[in-house]
Amino acid sequence: MSQDTQKQAVADAAIEYVQVGDVIGVGTGSTADCFIRSLARIKGKLDGAVASSEATASQLRQLGIPVLDLNQVGSLPLYVDGADEATRNRHLIKGGGGALTREKIVAQASEKFICIADQSKLVDRLGPFPLPIEVISMARSMVAREMVRHGGQPELRDGFTTDNGHLILDIRGLDILNPVELERQINQIPGVVTVGLFALRPANLLLIGTDSGVETI
Ligand code: 5RP
Repeated sequence: MSQDTQKQAVADAAIEYVQVGDVIGVGTGSTADCFIRSLARIKGKLDGAVASSEATASQLRQLGIPVLDLNQVGSLPLYVDGADEATRNRHLIKGGGGALTREKIVAQASEKFICIADQSKLVDRLGPFPLPIEVISMARSMVAREMVRHGGQPELRDGFTTDNGHLILDIRGLDILNPVELERQINQIPGVVTVGLFALRPANLLLIGTDSGVETI
């Protein structure tokens, strides 16, 4: 099964968790795009959606799905999004698409976070994928130096500004033995808006596309 077929298979599997009258959180990226395409088939079931990026908001609007402000809806029953890496503990690296801050907000506001991914994303230990950190511009060099102290090699994402008007540092070379502790430590660095580690609030369910079908973790 190709990577694209696996992405569509997990997107279709996630649709089964949508209930009539739900307002759900919708993520960002190519796997989330597959989910948005699947949502089109059942959009009548939804009362609306909260988007994790401007790109997702515009796709949802094009489908005629009302895009709501999180402040107006409170907690969400369900959030569906992809990941750059995932472990069987359901810890994730996210932010390859730069939407990590809004993704973490929507995940935190959701009762159930379903992460959908093709099998290339499943790893034994997080770290081969460069860890994205959204930073306030004036703190970028200081945060980069702190990450060197953590054993990483930071690189400013060239020409990229997030939906929130901030920058992204991508940190290569981290071997993430304790994702919960590392997320806590990076959260403490002044100037860090969000780190793309999702371990303090992991996914509730991972749907992984494999050659033999969808594996639920
Ligand atoms: C965006 C994300 C995405 O979920 C992540 O980058 C995975 O994207 P894709 O489904 O295209 O592989 O975190 O900020």
